[in-house]
Amino acid sequence: MKARSCTNCSLAGLGRTQVVFGMGNPRADLMFVGEGPGAEEDKQGLPFVGRSGKLLDRLMQEEIGITRAECYIANVVKCRPPGNRDPLPEEISACRPYIEQQLEIIAPKVVVTLGRFSSHLLLSTKEPISKLRGRTYPFGAGVLVPTLHPAAALRGGGEPLAQMRADFIRAKQALERSQLEESRAHAPAGRGGA
Ligand code: URA
Repeated sequence: MKARSCTNCSLAGLGRTQVVFGMGNPRADLMFVGEGPGAEEDKQGLPFVGRSGKLLDRLMQEEIGITRAECYIANVVKCRPPGNRDPLPEEISACRPYIEQQLEIIAPKVVVTLGRFSSHLLLSTKEPISKLRGRTYPFGAGVLVPTLHPAAALRGGGEPLAQMRADFIRAKQALERSQLEESRAHAPAGRGGA
């Protein structure tokens, strides 16, 4: 798929500067999925580099202890919706093969969906994010942790921010569990036995 010259939906002709495909470690165990690029992302060609991205970086560091280079970050739509409007259902559908391929190739153990668009798409539900968040869901060979979009925490402060922190801790615990299971699966048989 040639994402960089994609014209599968109208966003291609609605003033995008460039396609924002994703960034990070393609072998990451942890992947974040947001909504779509904003003005700064459209300018730099990288996801989450504006105000929401600064908060994402901070929560990643403070609650999970990682930097963006250690995970992978992508969005459900790869081109900026004009004026930062919500992506339309037909734009999300047209872009869907890209996020599906990214998920298949990276095969993360833990996916954190940021906000309702990515949570709805990947969990195939229309439940409000306030009902979805707060737990983990089986997803592929791993789990999915839905949380709020950082923009909601920037707007709402205290409670949404605390909820995001709790969800990031949930993601960290899921990551640790999957890494422990993996190390057990690869441990030499019989060690420590009588
Ligand atoms: N919001 C998103 O959902 N994605 C970005 O890349 C930036 C802001």
